[in-house]
Amino acid sequence: MQKRLLIMLFFAAGCTPELEVPNGKAKFAQDCAGCHGTDAMGAGPVAQSMGVLAPDLTQLAVRNGGVFPRDAVMATIDGLDRPPHFANAMPEFGAGDLGEAVIVETPDGLGTPTPVGLIALADFLESIQAP
Ligand code: HEC
Repeated sequence: MQKRLLIMLFFAAGCTPELEVPNGKAKFAQDCAGCHGTDAMGAGPVAQSMGVLAPDLTQLAVRNGGVFPRDAVMATIDGLDRPPHFANAMPEFGAGDLGEAVIVETPDGLGTPTPVGLIALADFLESIQAP
């Protein structure tokens, strides 16, 4: 009897893997800094060598009336919803590995499955917005 309980516990533990939440700053340094710059201000060496200007990502809130445009930022990174001029400018990270999806509740009460890597990147960008 006791043995069976132990086995059940073992399986229960095995079936709930730890959710790996990536570090947004580290992920940015790895995936984005080449174009947007380590300080996110736009002067990354890759973008410069491509002859494109990657926007200053510390100005997103300022340019949006003081509100960090979180949903738009996540859609842009994911590639889910963005203007066609992005086509060759920036990879669609949704096609890569943004990690496991968790349900995020939107203001309208709907739950949207959102990859943890995307949330980490959005949190990091929000944390570096210019006042
Ligand atoms: C290969 C270069 C490149 C890489 C890598 C890259 N970007 Fe970009 N990104 C750009 C360019 C260029 C634009 C501007 C595109 C346009 O407006 O046509 C842009 C635009 C954006 C925008 C929209 C900014 C605005 O003004 O609305 C966001 C947000 C963004 N990038 C975030 C990221 C994040 C986060 C990563 C890493 C996960 C990343 N980018 C990786 C080149 C890149």
